Amino acid sequence: MTIAQITDLHVTTDKDPLNQRRNEARLRQVMTAIHELRPRPAAIIASGDLVDRGEHDEYLELKRLMADSEIPIYYALGNHDGREAFLSVFDGPGAQTDPNGYVQYAVDFGRMRMVVCDTLGGPNHGEYDEARAAWLEATLDAAPDRPTAVILHHPPILSGIRWMDPEPDSPWIRRLAEALRGRDQLKVLMCGHIHRAFNGLFAGHMVSAAPATSIQLTLDLTEVDMHVPDGREILVEEPPGFVLLMSERDELTTHVCLAGDYAPAVTYNFPFRTLA
Ligand SMILES: [Fe+2]
Repeated sequence: MTIAQITDLHVTTDKDPLNQRRNEARLRQVMTAIHELRPRPAAIIASGDLVDRGEHDEYLELKRLMADSEIPIYYALGNHDGREAFLSVFDGPGAQTDPNGYVQYAVDFGRMRMVVCDTLGGPNHGEYDEARAAWLEATLDAAPDRPTAVILHHPPILSGIRWMDPEPDSPWIRRLAEALRGRDQLKVLMCGHIHRAFNGLFAGHMVSAAPATSIQLTLDLTEVDMHVPDGREILVEEPPGFVLLMSERDELTTHVCLAGDYAPAVTYNFPFRTLA
């Protein structure tokens, strides 16, 4: 059983024609690659920055782009999203809210549980208040034996790309750690936001951050003065990507995938053991 994660779609309208064309083309490339996977994923989770400016018209555009997906799509919100505008366009199983109106919900796929969290709040970095954390704790308490993937837009760990990283001592990160520590069923935290694949540990759990379907962040781990523009490259047209989550024997594994047409390098014409 597999689930595909796409993130940082940054879909927009013809008010911003360059980004509209580029981000739509790259999203289509990823959706095609996911539909060609065998076995076909049971679902797609889009983990935030679904659109670029959080506007109603952008969500209409997103809905139009996703209408021909043959795989059900679930949504989470990021800092570029607008909760109200999103909920004015999307509803149903992929856009559920908790009792406080946050876009947070749990979905089961066989034995596996996916818990979607809403970290929208700050201007760029995440937010996770007491009410959201209480919902997360109750949701995890309700199914302690199901192998679980938690989806949240903002990685609560440092990537080293300094202009994007959160303050590690932020209250929202502390609350999240308290809610997640010691949860044996939690196998992976799946994030976006950094527009680049990286991994680390948070509260004893694996964090898997996915590449964007839109443009990627340049891998630049040097110091930067956030108030002094210095002309450095910060975003790059590396290929669009996604993550494939695999569930087998109650364990969850993630694969980072690039979309695009690549020529086969070797074909299977002799026993595999001669390759080992
Ligand atoms: Fe983003």
